Amino acid sequence: MSRPPIQRPELDGPFPEHIAIIMDGNGRWATERGMLRVQGHTAGVQSVREITTECARMGVSSLTLYAFSVENWRRPSTEVRYLMRLLRVFMRTERRTLLDNGVRLRCIGRLEDLPAPALKALRRTEELTAEGDGMLLRLALSYGSRTELADALAAATRDALAGRLDPDTIDEETLRRYLYDPETPDPDLIIRTAGELRVSNFLLWQMSYAELYVTDLCWPEFRREELLAAIRAYAGRRRKYGGLLPKEEDSGARAGRGSA
Ligand code: IPE
Ligand code: IPE
Ligand code: MG
Repeated sequence: MSRPPIQRPELDGPFPEHIAIIMDGNGRWATERGMLRVQGHTAGVQSVREITTECARMGVSSLTLYAFSVENWRRPSTEVRYLMRLLRVFMRTERRTLLDNGVRLRCIGRLEDLPAPALKALRRTEELTAEGDGMLLRLALSYGSRTELADALAAATRDALAGRLDPDTIDEETLRRYLYDPETPDPDLIIRTAGELRVSNFLLWQMSYAELYVTDLCWPEFRREELLAAIRAYAGRRRKYGGLLPKEEDSGARAGRGSA
Protein backbone atom coordinates (compact mmCIF):
# COMPACT_ATOMS: atom_id res chain seq x y z
CA MET A 1 0.00 0.00 0.00
CA SER A 2 1.41 3.42 -0.90
CA ARG A 3 1.62 5.84 1.97
CA PRO A 4 -0.32 9.13 2.07
CA PRO A 5 1.35 12.12 0.34
CA ILE A 6 3.52 14.43 2.46
CA GLN A 7 1.71 17.64 3.37
CA ARG A 8 4.02 20.23 4.89
CA PRO A 9 2.29 23.04 6.78
CA GLU A 10 2.79 26.54 5.40
CA LEU A 11 5.41 28.26 7.52
CA ASP A 12 7.28 31.57 7.62
CA GLY A 13 10.57 29.86 8.42
CA PRO A 14 12.36 26.50 8.51
CA PHE A 15 10.67 23.19 9.25
CA PRO A 16 12.05 21.03 12.09
CA GLU A 17 13.46 17.89 10.49
CA HIS A 18 13.89 16.13 13.84
CA ILE A 19 11.39 16.66 16.65
CA ALA A 20 11.92 15.14 20.11
CA ILE A 21 9.19 15.14 22.76
CA ILE A 22 9.26 14.74 26.53
CA MET A 23 5.76 13.32 26.91
CA ASP A 24 4.94 14.44 30.45
CA GLY A 25 1.79 14.91 32.50
CA ASN A 26 -0.17 11.69 32.02
CA GLY A 27 -0.52 11.23 35.78
CA ARG A 28 -1.64 14.81 36.39
CA TRP A 29 -4.10 14.67 33.53
CA ALA A 30 -5.74 11.61 35.12
CA THR A 31 -5.73 12.73 38.76
CA GLU A 32 -7.20 16.13 37.82
CA ARG A 33 -10.12 14.17 36.40
CA GLY A 34 -10.52 11.87 39.39
CA MET A 35 -9.01 8.97 37.48
CA LEU A 36 -6.12 6.63 38.25
CA ARG A 37 -2.65 7.67 37.06
CA VAL A 38 -2.42 4.64 34.80
CA GLN A 39 -5.56 5.78 32.99
CA GLY A 40 -3.56 8.84 32.04
CA HIS A 41 -0.97 6.57 30.41
CA THR A 42 -3.70 4.83 28.41
CA ALA A 43 -5.06 8.22 27.30
CA GLY A 44 -1.51 9.27 26.34
CA VAL A 45 -1.36 6.45 23.81
CA GLN A 46 -3.95 8.29 21.68
CA SER A 47 -1.61 11.28 21.53
CA VAL A 48 1.31 9.04 20.56
CA ARG A 49 -0.76 7.65 17.69
CA GLU A 50 -1.97 11.05 16.48
CA ILE A 51 1.36 12.86 16.80
CA THR A 52 3.29 10.04 15.12
CA THR A 53 0.85 9.94 12.20
CA GLU A 54 0.79 13.73 11.85
CA CYS A 55 4.57 14.01 11.92
CA ALA A 56 4.87 11.29 9.28
CA ARG A 57 2.32 13.06 7.07
CA MET A 58 4.06 16.43 7.47
CA GLY A 59 7.34 14.89 6.35
CA VAL A 60 9.23 15.10 9.65
CA SER A 61 12.43 13.05 9.15
CA SER A 62 12.76 11.81 12.74
CA LEU A 63 10.50 11.87 15.78
CA THR A 64 11.99 10.86 19.13
CA LEU A 65 9.54 10.15 21.95
CA TYR A 66 10.74 9.94 25.54
CA ALA A 67 8.54 7.10 26.74
CA PHE A 68 10.32 5.74 29.83
CA SER A 69 13.44 7.01 31.57
CA VAL A 70 16.03 5.06 33.57
CA GLU A 71 14.72 7.01 36.57
CA ASN A 72 11.13 5.88 35.90
CA TRP A 73 12.05 2.42 37.25
CA ARG A 74 11.76 4.10 40.67
CA ARG A 75 7.98 4.30 40.31
CA PRO A 76 5.66 1.82 42.07
CA SER A 77 5.92 -1.62 40.49
CA THR A 78 2.21 -1.63 39.60
CA GLU A 79 2.66 1.51 37.47
CA VAL A 80 5.84 0.17 35.85
CA ARG A 81 4.13 -3.13 35.02
CA TYR A 82 1.18 -1.28 33.54
CA LEU A 83 3.47 0.84 31.34
CA MET A 84 5.36 -2.21 30.11
CA ARG A 85 2.14 -3.97 29.24
CA LEU A 86 0.89 -0.87 27.45
CA LEU A 87 4.09 -0.79 25.44
CA ARG A 88 3.71 -4.41 24.39
CA VAL A 89 0.05 -3.99 23.41
CA PHE A 90 0.83 -0.72 21.57
CA MET A 91 3.48 -2.46 19.49
CA ARG A 92 0.96 -5.03 18.34
CA THR A 93 -1.94 -2.65 17.69
CA GLU A 94 0.10 0.09 15.97
CA ARG A 95 2.21 -1.99 13.60
CA ARG A 96 -0.31 -1.65 10.81
CA THR A 97 -0.50 2.17 11.14
CA LEU A 98 3.30 2.43 11.23
CA LEU A 99 3.60 0.30 8.09
CA ASP A 100 0.84 2.22 6.29
CA ASN A 101 2.66 5.48 6.97
CA GLY A 102 6.09 4.16 6.01
CA VAL A 103 7.36 4.71 9.57
CA ARG A 104 10.53 2.91 10.73
CA LEU A 105 10.78 2.15 14.46
CA ARG A 106 14.07 2.28 16.35
CA CYS A 107 14.46 2.05 20.12
CA ILE A 108 17.17 3.78 22.13
CA GLY A 109 18.09 3.17 25.76
CA ARG A 110 19.08 0.30 28.03
CA LEU A 111 16.67 -2.04 26.31
CA GLU A 112 18.10 -5.07 28.10
CA ASP A 113 16.33 -3.77 31.25
CA LEU A 114 12.88 -4.22 29.69
CA PRO A 115 10.74 -7.30 30.42
CA ALA A 116 11.23 -9.98 27.74
CA PRO A 117 7.68 -9.83 26.24
CA ALA A 118 7.88 -6.04 25.77
CA LEU A 119 11.36 -6.25 24.28
CA LYS A 120 10.27 -9.03 21.92
CA ALA A 121 7.31 -6.96 20.67
CA LEU A 122 9.60 -3.95 20.11
CA ARG A 123 12.22 -5.96 18.22
CA ARG A 124 9.55 -7.56 16.05
CA THR A 125 8.12 -4.13 15.17
CA GLU A 126 11.61 -2.81 14.41
CA GLU A 127 12.14 -5.74 12.05
CA LEU A 128 8.76 -5.43 10.34
CA THR A 129 9.10 -1.68 9.78
CA ALA A 130 12.79 -1.69 8.85
CA GLU A 131 12.10 -1.12 5.15
CA GLY A 132 9.82 1.90 5.72
CA ASP A 133 10.83 4.78 3.48
CA GLY A 134 9.22 7.51 5.57
CA MET A 135 9.79 8.90 9.03
CA LEU A 136 12.07 7.38 11.65
CA LEU A 137 10.24 6.95 14.97
CA ARG A 138 12.68 6.60 17.85
CA LEU A 139 11.31 5.45 21.19
CA ALA A 140 13.53 6.28 24.16
CA LEU A 141 12.97 3.45 26.63
CA SER A 142 14.86 2.88 29.85
CA TYR A 143 16.73 5.87 28.47
CA GLY A 144 18.94 8.23 30.40
CA SER A 145 21.36 10.63 28.82
CA ARG A 146 24.00 10.21 31.52
CA THR A 147 23.69 6.44 31.12
CA GLU A 148 24.12 6.85 27.36
CA LEU A 149 27.29 8.89 27.90
CA ALA A 150 28.61 6.37 30.46
CA ASP A 151 27.91 3.52 28.01
CA ALA A 152 29.70 5.49 25.28
CA LEU A 153 32.72 6.07 27.50
CA ALA A 154 32.88 2.37 28.42
CA ALA A 155 32.72 1.32 24.75
CA ALA A 156 35.35 3.87 23.72
CA THR A 157 37.65 2.78 26.55
CA ARG A 158 37.31 -0.86 25.48
CA ASP A 159 38.26 0.13 21.92
CA ALA A 160 41.20 2.21 23.14
CA LEU A 161 42.53 -0.65 25.27
CA ALA A 162 42.17 -3.03 22.31
CA GLY A 163 44.16 -0.62 20.13
CA ARG A 164 41.18 0.24 17.89
CA LEU A 165 40.93 3.86 19.06
CA ASP A 166 43.77 6.35 19.50
CA PRO A 167 42.88 8.65 22.46
CA ASP A 168 44.81 11.51 20.84
CA THR A 169 42.34 11.54 17.93
CA ILE A 170 39.16 11.69 20.04
CA ASP A 171 36.96 14.61 19.09
CA GLU A 172 33.21 15.35 19.18
CA GLU A 173 32.52 13.15 16.17
CA THR A 174 34.35 10.22 17.79
CA LEU A 175 32.18 10.50 20.87
CA ARG A 176 29.05 10.72 18.75
CA ARG A 177 29.90 7.38 17.12
CA TYR A 178 29.57 5.68 20.52
CA LEU A 179 26.10 7.05 21.29
CA TYR A 180 23.03 4.80 20.95
CA ASP A 181 22.02 6.03 17.50
CA PRO A 182 24.85 8.00 15.91
CA GLU A 183 23.36 8.18 12.42
CA THR A 184 20.31 10.25 13.33
CA PRO A 185 20.99 14.01 13.22
CA ASP A 186 20.44 15.99 16.43
CA PRO A 187 16.91 17.17 17.26
CA ASP A 188 15.98 20.61 15.95
CA LEU A 189 12.99 21.06 18.24
CA ILE A 190 12.42 19.65 21.73
CA ILE A 191 8.87 19.82 23.03
CA ARG A 192 7.96 19.23 26.67
CA THR A 193 4.34 18.92 27.75
CA ALA A 194 2.91 19.61 31.24
CA GLY A 195 4.89 22.73 31.92
CA GLU A 196 8.04 21.60 33.76
CA LEU A 197 11.07 23.69 32.83
CA ARG A 198 13.63 20.88 32.92
CA VAL A 199 15.10 18.31 30.58
CA SER A 200 14.98 15.24 32.90
CA ASN A 201 18.10 13.51 31.57
CA PHE A 202 16.96 13.50 27.94
CA LEU A 203 19.38 13.77 24.98
CA LEU A 204 21.77 16.08 26.86
CA TRP A 205 24.50 15.77 24.24
CA GLN A 206 22.20 15.89 21.24
CA MET A 207 20.11 18.86 22.38
CA SER A 208 23.06 21.26 22.55
CA TYR A 209 21.57 23.56 19.91
CA ALA A 210 17.96 22.37 19.84
CA GLU A 211 15.15 24.89 20.15
CA LEU A 212 12.98 24.29 23.23
CA TYR A 213 9.20 24.55 23.40
CA VAL A 214 7.24 23.97 26.60
CA THR A 215 3.47 23.84 26.80
CA ASP A 216 1.32 23.62 29.94
CA LEU A 217 -0.95 21.08 28.29
CA CYS A 218 -0.57 17.52 29.56
CA TRP A 219 0.48 14.85 27.07
CA PRO A 220 -3.02 13.31 26.60
CA GLU A 221 -4.20 16.80 25.49
CA PHE A 222 -1.33 17.35 23.05
CA ARG A 223 -2.74 16.80 19.58
CA ARG A 224 -2.40 18.03 16.01
CA GLU A 225 -3.15 21.74 16.68
CA GLU A 226 -0.63 21.84 19.52
CA LEU A 227 1.97 20.19 17.36
CA LEU A 228 1.38 22.81 14.68
CA ALA A 229 1.73 25.58 17.26
CA ALA A 230 5.11 24.18 18.31
CA ILE A 231 6.25 23.86 14.69
CA ARG A 232 5.17 27.44 13.96
CA ALA A 233 7.05 28.66 17.04
CA TYR A 234 10.13 26.83 15.76
CA ALA A 235 9.76 28.42 12.32
CA GLY A 236 9.93 31.83 14.01
CA ARG A 237 13.18 31.10 15.88
CA ARG A 238 16.53 32.35 14.63
CA ARG A 239 19.20 29.72 15.23
CA LYS A 240 22.65 31.24 15.58
CA TYR A 241 24.91 28.41 16.86
CA GLY A 242 27.05 30.96 18.66
CA GLY A 243 27.53 33.05 15.53
CA LEU A 244 25.63 36.00 14.16
CA LEU A 245 22.77 36.29 11.70
CA PRO A 246 23.74 37.78 8.31
CA LYS A 247 21.99 41.06 9.12
CA GLU A 248 23.82 41.30 12.45
CA GLU A 249 27.13 40.75 10.66
CA ASP A 250 26.32 43.69 8.35
CA SER A 251 25.59 46.03 11.22
CA GLY A 252 28.78 44.85 12.99
CA ALA A 253 30.81 45.68 9.88
CA ARG A 254 29.17 49.12 9.65
CA ALA A 255 29.92 49.80 13.32
CA GLY A 256 33.54 48.73 12.73
CA ARG A 257 33.87 51.11 9.80
CA GLY A 258 32.31 53.91 11.80
CA SER A 259 34.83 53.68 14.64
CA ALA A 260 37.88 53.39 12.34
C1 IPE B 1 4.72 10.91 31.60
O1 IPE B 1 3.70 11.22 32.47
C2 IPE B 1 4.83 9.43 31.33
C3 IPE B 1 6.03 8.82 31.89
C4 IPE B 1 7.00 9.43 32.49
C5 IPE B 1 6.15 7.38 31.74
P1 IPE B 1 3.91 11.16 34.05
O2 IPE B 1 3.54 9.79 34.52
O3 IPE B 1 5.28 11.59 34.42
O4 IPE B 1 2.84 12.21 34.53
P2 IPE B 1 2.99 13.25 35.72
O5 IPE B 1 4.22 14.06 35.44
O6 IPE B 1 3.12 12.45 36.98
O7 IPE B 1 1.75 14.06 35.65
C1 IPE C 1 10.33 12.56 31.94
O1 IPE C 1 9.20 12.68 32.71
C2 IPE C 1 10.46 11.17 31.41
C3 IPE C 1 9.49 10.80 30.38
C4 IPE C 1 8.64 11.61 29.83
C5 IPE C 1 9.55 9.44 29.95
P1 IPE C 1 9.25 12.48 34.30
O2 IPE C 1 7.88 12.68 34.82
O3 IPE C 1 9.90 11.19 34.63
O4 IPE C 1 10.22 13.67 34.72
P2 IPE C 1 10.41 14.40 36.12
O5 IPE C 1 10.51 13.33 37.16
O6 IPE C 1 9.23 15.27 36.32
O7 IPE C 1 11.67 15.20 35.96
MG1 MG D 1 6.07 13.39 34.95
